[in-house]
Amino acid sequence: MADLTTDYLGLTLPSPLVVASSALSNRLENLEAAEGHGAGAVVLRSLFEEQLEATNTELEEAAARHADSSPEARTYFPPQRVGPHEYLSLVERAKKALDIPVIASLNCCAPGSWTGYAREIASAGADALEVNLYAVEADPEVSGAEVERRYLEVVRELRAAVKIPLAVKLSPYFTALAHVARQLELAGAQGLVLFNRFLQPDLSLDRLAPISVMSLSAPGEALLPLRWMGLLHGRTKAHLAASTGVYDAPGALKQILAGAQVVQLASALVKNGVPHLGKVLQGMEEWLDRQGHSSLAEVRGTLSQKQISDPGAFERAQYVHLILSQNV
Ligand SMILES: Cc1cc2nc3c(=O)[nH]c(=O)nc-3n(C[C@H](O)[C@H](O)[C@H](O)COP(=O)(O)O)c2cc1C
Repeated sequence: MADLTTDYLGLTLPSPLVVASSALSNRLENLEAAEGHGAGAVVLRSLFEEQLEATNTELEEAAARHADSSPEARTYFPPQRVGPHEYLSLVERAKKALDIPVIASLNCCAPGSWTGYAREIASAGADALEVNLYAVEADPEVSGAEVERRYLEVVRELRAAVKIPLAVKLSPYFTALAHVARQLELAGAQGLVLFNRFLQPDLSLDRLAPISVMSLSAPGEALLPLRWMGLLHGRTKAHLAASTGVYDAPGALKQILAGAQVVQLASALVKNGVPHLGKVLQGMEEWLDRQGHSSLAEVRGTLSQKQISDPGAFERAQYVHLILSQNV
């Protein structure tokens, strides 16, 4: 059997499949089951900036205030509020119960005193911290450069607060994503998670009001991280983690061939259950064996832009070619 051992953020993972921060990953029994079915690491559900800055009684007000800029926060707030203390206890319990790395997650959009909380997460035993820069920047007075400066400040503050490895989960909606990736790396991120998946509000024609729907991803959505994986591999020292739309072994292998160090799964596990991880891993091992590879490391990045003979495939050339070849 091929060797699936993976280095991610300087941590040794028995496999490249990581349970993404999700509704599954705040329950210890799910985390234990994931380890049993071959997960290489787990990312705990996020603790939100709003939870850290507001007292419990202020929480709903704060969530409503932030709803425009961070609808995800409102949707992800668990029915029973999980405050900082419960979160630290989850980190401690997960560390005690699991051998695989436990990655804590903070979800935020601006620097603040809350960043110091990362220290307590590290003291509770988290092996690494994933910071989800989740914000919908809708203010016409605020430029992209300003937003990027704010994000870099968050990362620098977190970097100064903790010694554990730091990964940044980012959005695909930057004008110059490769530049942002480089700046995040320079600010201290050892990992980049591609990508955040934004919840899109819908409108109800009955209630004449917006509605928030928590939908799972579709496999086709994996093409967006796949392209950027291929473009960024070899252009940043940060480890790349794929997130969005990975459901099966082919989906996971493609991300790794494009350059992903690890692949995170959320929707696939919510939909199919945690044991699905085992099937994905088995499919990956079988493919590697069939191809005659003894380790995953042998194939990682072999289809990234820097490695392939047609680098234009990841950029505009592919689009021009396809559009010009269509005759309806
Ligand atoms: C039910 C659910 C809850 C989630 N909660 C979080 C969260 O707390 N923090 C976070 O960074 N991402 C969260 N996510 C996003 C996932 O980590 C992931 O980035 C996204 O769902 C895309 O990956 P997928 O296609 O594998 O689902 C959540 C996703 C789902 C489906």
